[in-house]
Amino acid sequence: MLKDSSIIIKAPSIIEFPSIGSSHEGYISVAEVEKNIPFQVKRVYWTYYTPQNIIRGYHAHKELQQVIFAVSGKIIFNVEDAQHNKTQFVLDQPHLGLYLPPFSWREIQFSHNAVLMCLASEVYNEEDYIRNYEDFINEIRKGQI
Ligand code: TYD
Repeated sequence: MLKDSSIIIKAPSIIEFPSIGSSHEGYISVAEVEKNIPFQVKRVYWTYYTPQNIIRGYHAHKELQQVIFAVSGKIIFNVEDAQHNKTQFVLDQPHLGLYLPPFSWREIQFSHNAVLMCLASEVYNEEDYIRNYEDFINEIRKGQI
């Protein structure tokens, strides 16, 4: 359970993580549950070697929350949320994380050297995916989210 003092975020947004160090010695950034991650982390996955001309994603989740990093390179997220707000988020620094709540439709483009790392609130479950944009719109309408 998250404590009362835990951060609660509802909209897709950038979380700025601390960069500890200096240009002289290098940096370390830290993600900690109950401090700057708004859920208990049950899964970590990472993607790499995605060609620059490929757009991935094209899905939303019903329950999953995520915080996503470009630990290397640049990753552009075009996100539509449950209120139909469309926002472009650019992850181009390793200390920036993108928080995605449930019902965030995302389309993702990667630079050639990009490594995406995701902290996820649930284990993998294909049933949690909405992979069709019309279904995404209908689910929002149905649920009045
Ligand atoms: P998907 O989430 O559709 O990736 P993207 O949105 O980047 O295209 O996942 C791609 C494939 O990987 C899909 O067949 C499911 C599989 N997969 C797992 O088996 N476990 C996981 O934790 C994830 C994220 C994906």
